[in-house]
Amino acid sequence: MLFLATGAAAAVGAGFLAWPFVAQMNPDASELALSSTELDLSQIAEGQVVTIKWRGKPVFVWNRAKDQIEKAKEVKLEELIDPLARNENLEPDAPATDANRAAKDKENWLVVVGVCTHLGCVPIANSGDFGGWLCPCHGSHYDGAGRIRRGPAPQNLDVPPYAFESDTKIKIG
Ligand code: FES
Repeated sequence: MLFLATGAAAAVGAGFLAWPFVAQMNPDASELALSSTELDLSQIAEGQVVTIKWRGKPVFVWNRAKDQIEKAKEVKLEELIDPLARNENLEPDAPATDANRAAKDKENWLVVVGVCTHLGCVPIANSGDFGGWLCPCHGSHYDGAGRIRRGPAPQNLDVPPYAFESDTKIKIG
């Protein structure tokens, strides 16, 4: 299930090439049947983003460095285009604080669906003006918590349902 696990920028850059548009990656029945995906986190270095495939979609798993976390935490809710956490593990009205976007009690881990909320392109990691992702299709910038900060995308990147099975393993879905 591990689709790609190399250097951060390269990983997601390659992911972008592999998955330029959601329309081209519609999951087939066998992929949809795999409703959950496990990932070993032990090989993901600090600062590295890995892209895995879950239910036919890319999911970004980012081991955020301290400065990246601090930058995301400094953002005030009033600055956000979308004030909702969009985190399937929380209530639908949970605010988009960094704590509500990152993994519970493991703030270095950020897990988001890698599908731009504008028209579905795959954003590029470590790009854009806010320390997160840039969607090159129409210029949507996401910050270090995957929150939309500039551009036409209306919502933050979705946080899929996931849980830690151990300190070094997560199960998505
Ligand atoms: S699809 Fe991402 S900005 Fe349009």
